[in-house]
Amino acid sequence: MASGLRKGLTSYGDAGFSLFLRTAFIKAMGFTDDALDRPIIGITDTYSDFNPCHGNVPDLIEAAKRGIMLAGGLPMAFPTISVHESFAHPTSMFLRNLMALDTEEMIRAQPMDAVLLIGGCDKTLPAQLMGAASANIPAIVLPTGPMLVGHYKGEVLGACTDCRRLWARHRAGEMDAAEMNEVSSRLAPTKGTCMVMGTASTMACMIEALGMSLPGSGTAPATHADRVRLAEASGATAVRLAREGVTPRQILTKAAFRNAFAVLQAIGGSTNGLIHMTAVAGRMGIDVDLEEFDALGRDVPVLVDLKPSGQHYMEHFHWAGGVPRLLRELAPLLDTSCLTVTGGTLAGSIAAAEDVPGQNVIRTRDNPIHQGGGLAVLRGNLAPDGALLKRSAATASLLRHEGRAVVFDSIPDMAARIDDDDLDVTADDILVLRNAGPKGAPGMPEAGYLPIPRKLARAGVKDMVRISDARRSGTAFGTIVLHASPESAAGGPLALVQTGDRIRLDADARTLDLLVDAAELDRRRAAWTPPLPPEGAERGYLRLYLEQVLQAGQGCDFAFCRPPA
Ligand code: FES
Repeated sequence: MASGLRKGLTSYGDAGFSLFLRTAFIKAMGFTDDALDRPIIGITDTYSDFNPCHGNVPDLIEAAKRGIMLAGGLPMAFPTISVHESFAHPTSMFLRNLMALDTEEMIRAQPMDAVLLIGGCDKTLPAQLMGAASANIPAIVLPTGPMLVGHYKGEVLGACTDCRRLWARHRAGEMDAAEMNEVSSRLAPTKGTCMVMGTASTMACMIEALGMSLPGSGTAPATHADRVRLAEASGATAVRLAREGVTPRQILTKAAFRNAFAVLQAIGGSTNGLIHMTAVAGRMGIDVDLEEFDALGRDVPVLVDLKPSGQHYMEHFHWAGGVPRLLRELAPLLDTSCLTVTGGTLAGSIAAAEDVPGQNVIRTRDNPIHQGGGLAVLRGNLAPDGALLKRSAATASLLRHEGRAVVFDSIPDMAARIDDDDLDVTADDILVLRNAGPKGAPGMPEAGYLPIPRKLARAGVKDMVRISDARRSGTAFGTIVLHASPESAAGGPLALVQTGDRIRLDADARTLDLLVDAAELDRRRAAWTPPLPPEGAERGYLRLYLEQVLQAGQGCDFAFCRPPA
């Protein structure tokens, strides 16, 4: 099989000429024949002035290049799309699949024997892993790593659990605009990803458990020397993977995904972790069974004491031993024979885990933060294909609740009415948001964290049951039911709910039901018409997206990106 510069020659109808031309052009960069004869390791460059979560990428690339060269390879960094949560309109999820396509095709198009994927902000690691899984050349992931914590008036702060908590206080009139401006300088004090167990941290930890990154990669702070050393080691590892021909297909097995899902439960991870890892597994032809996931959740307790489920931050998790130490605690529930990029198995990573005397961030299984896992899959006539609830970040008294539906027909409708003092709503009601799913919004934005109506927030209400077909940030707290599937824009039952209907949630029984009789629902279904397509849907990426995006149960991947059945 061709390697190095000989891989994937540009088509001129004469392979010898293609290689000659390629060699001639690359020599313009000053490379010697010796350098060009080495295994070529591509490095994704996702640095962007719009992406502070990737602010350390240049340093990581430099260290990775050092590791690659020390191991006898030739590093070649190349740009791909970079997506930051707060700088992606309408929502970063809309762009995840575009980044996956870009990553996959650039890996295929350019001659590289292995690829080092450097990413971090929420959608980037899943996108990169989806692309690399489909391209299936040797690959290793290096997350950019979490930020350090912030401080404000003696309080430790973290993006973005505390962004939302403090914004809720501002909405309730407890903090003024000047204070909020001051806080905005403290919440994200360094480069790197959010330092709570949000989606970025969740994905980094799951990918480490999956075996696609080196031990420690999931947790080492972005600005710490450990992160730079990991970059050097990841570069060297990429050279070995290239020489040994170890591809993602050998690592991304059903058992490895199960291990990653066990970690998702044990860290009280983001609900987005399920969607993203489902999309990656789908690229391998592996369907994720929601009942299996839920059953796993009943066995795996939440062990990591991190916000928003607990009290610590990612740097504390790292210094407590990180993912390897957690894996040791979970070992009886895992398949530790799974291969990892280290060349060994998960058992090897566990054996090398650091023991930190007195640490209280990673609990033992007989002293968990929450029994029975963080994420529960709900079923019922309101979500026949499933919905998700993060139990570990919910209010215990609301986990079994019946209430009156207060329905918002879309995100703009919610924005227009939620703070209206005339809104007919009480703390016992259930807020319902629809047309916010993969096709509906479009892009399934993190709108599932419906704000508490201002008049209730002012009265001290901190949480209510909220139901939608949207996602939510992994950093948020609340009794929030997400991903109700099928989504309302695709004719799912959320489209049929009317204000005043009764809804019953029972998290222990895993049920979510609209208490309206079947004949009435049939009548409403017959009268339902789909929402109008968004502006611009007739062309371009939006058209491709709307035609191809799948539901949450298939990871919201594009249908044509999954392998043939
Ligand atoms: Fe990038 Fe939170 S905004 S990880």
